[in-house]
Amino acid sequence: MERVYNPISPKCRKILHGADYNPEQWRDDIHILDEDIRLMKLAHCNVVAMGMFSWAALEPEEGRYDFRWLDDIMDRLYANGIYVILATPSGARPAWLSQKYPEVLRVGENRVRNLHGRRHNHCFTSPIYRERVRNINTLLAKRYKDHPALLLWHVSNEYGGACHCDLCQEAFREFLKEKYQGDLDALNKAWWTSFWSHTYTEWSQIESPAPHGESLVHGQNLDWRRFASHQTIDFYKNEIIPLREYTPNIPITTNFDDYISIYNKGVNYWEFAPYVDVVSWDNYPYWHGERENWIEGSRIGFIHDINRALKGGKPFMMMESSPSATNWQPVGKLKRPGMHALSSIQAIAHGSDTVQYFQWRKSRGSSEKFHGAVVDHCGHENTRVFKEVAELGDILDRLDPVIGTSVEPEVAVIYDWENSWAIDDAQGPRNEGKDYFITCQSHYRQFWSRGIPVDVINMDSDISKYKLVIAPMLYMVRSGVGEKIEEFVDNGGTFVTTYWSGIVDEHDLCFLTGFPGPLRKTVGIWSEEIDALYDKDVNYVKVDTKLLPDMKGKYEARVFCDLIHAETAETLAVYETDFYAGRPALTVNKYGEGKAYYIGFRNNNEFLYDFYGNIISSLNLRRCLNIDLPMGVTAQMRTDGKSDYIFLQNYSDGEKTINLKGMKLKELLTDDFIDGYIDMPEYSFKILVRECKQD
Ligand code: GLA
Ligand code: ZN
Repeated sequence: MERVYNPISPKCRKILHGADYNPEQWRDDIHILDEDIRLMKLAHCNVVAMGMFSWAALEPEEGRYDFRWLDDIMDRLYANGIYVILATPSGARPAWLSQKYPEVLRVGENRVRNLHGRRHNHCFTSPIYRERVRNINTLLAKRYKDHPALLLWHVSNEYGGACHCDLCQEAFREFLKEKYQGDLDALNKAWWTSFWSHTYTEWSQIESPAPHGESLVHGQNLDWRRFASHQTIDFYKNEIIPLREYTPNIPITTNFDDYISIYNKGVNYWEFAPYVDVVSWDNYPYWHGERENWIEGSRIGFIHDINRALKGGKPFMMMESSPSATNWQPVGKLKRPGMHALSSIQAIAHGSDTVQYFQWRKSRGSSEKFHGAVVDHCGHENTRVFKEVAELGDILDRLDPVIGTSVEPEVAVIYDWENSWAIDDAQGPRNEGKDYFITCQSHYRQFWSRGIPVDVINMDSDISKYKLVIAPMLYMVRSGVGEKIEEFVDNGGTFVTTYWSGIVDEHDLCFLTGFPGPLRKTVGIWSEEIDALYDKDVNYVKVDTKLLPDMKGKYEARVFCDLIHAETAETLAVYETDFYAGRPALTVNKYGEGKAYYIGFRNNNEFLYDFYGNIISSLNLRRCLNIDLPMGVTAQMRTDGKSDYIFLQNYSDGEKTINLKGMKLKELLTDDFIDGYIDMPEYSFKILVRECKQD
């Protein structure tokens, strides 16, 4: 790879290090603001993100503005070498605005209008809200367009959720009319409304899903989610009009959250990404929690890899992370010494060009007063957390060569938003523990733990550049995707899919051509039935070790067991027990120049590790370091085509020894050559440089 991306902003060619800064909470205390700047410099911070919750301070009454405090802070930050990522304030609005224009308040799915309060509580359709937001954004853009501190726009804050008010209902109907080209019959067919007599005869009968109304028409639920995502993006597009107009050279982002893992119900980031100049996301891992740290490490790696893939490999920003505890998690465990640096370096390793925190200074009151911050209530730098942040800042300061570099993985895992919505919505084959996200992660982890870079993509992404594409539980197959996968395999690609794939089309309507529908020819099997197991149930599969010599003879099968017929595929493993004993459980189909594997059962790490071990060696997939890594250690890399930057990271709770003999590596931070064994204490990392072979 010879490509190096531009830095996030040409104004600052450094890894960005900083935090969400809320000076409006301390406006009256000049001493604190002075201290902040002193401490930021001490912590090697070169950026702050601010303004996301400043609306009431900027516009205390409708049409009365006060920008002086912001002018002053912007000036002082810049004078001290600190840039500003300036937010638009739409995420939380002043009370006068809700009071005067109640239509801006969000309506819940129960059709009750929220009261003023909290944040992220507005209607995305309301023309008044859009107008008020556009107004304040225009004023900000005009005022700060030439300010040298302005580095980037941070539009709103973690967009998400939906509004069910009358304006949104009308907009939903308009969205549907456009989608179905004014043909209500087409909508009825797509939603299968003949079921339970749900046929619509007027557009005006259609409403958003509601707990006390319609919620079981899956096509309708899906289109509502698509609409809510679309409307959010549309709201954003309205927000950025003045920013583009007055500051055409200032890049724009909005901070994505990790709802992928938590609620999985929000905005479709694949649809959003084309409209931001740089992807940014907020990262709150559960270190030292119920999951082992290395499992958590690979979970976060997976999300970083989505964020990098969203713009085809372009470096992204870690806009938020906690320097210590995260107070909304069930248990706000402190990061153990070392974990802060490791977790921050992890972001860089996967393609972030920033390490940023929520929050700079702990607020004194309200709901985030106990959330981790760089500066604690004691207000000085003599704290464990501050010291760790400052030490890390010093390291980040020395990572200039990494800026703009990326990676081109040979492997992709498909984790698809709409597919995830549809799997969750479906009733059956089990209603608990369908675990699409966790399943995708368990496949991903086999590469993470071997130090093989992976892109995490959605099903519409281009797959032609990969050697191996893995699509666990590809329940929904949108039109064109089956054909694309077929072509990929035909041209020599290796494809792996699993049970519960190829079941429905983009309307959530079942394929009638035998499952896995459009994948059937490529994988060469027919899935006749699927058995759902209770958690206590276990079946076993027997692997044909003549065909897969690196695998063990026997593995567990749990949760889902697909009852398949090998049509053109070859059987690699069979079930051992139950009435389907002896039937195929794992198959491979040679198709054109490539191969397509079908895993018929849910399995565990042991199976996946061995299974992918086989594929990795047969495809000769590139590892960041050509060695077997100890359990809990990963290596990720970025490259500029001349040097590879390899980030070796130990997530296990103990020291690991690694043999790097003969690898011609240099340590980036010390410039020392490394040859031989190195000891890596728990939660430690090393950044290694390797010169690329030039042809
Ligand atoms: C989110 C928000 C921040 C803050 C943090 C706390 O990511 O964007 O404003 O509330 O959570 O973890
Ligand atoms: Zn609304």
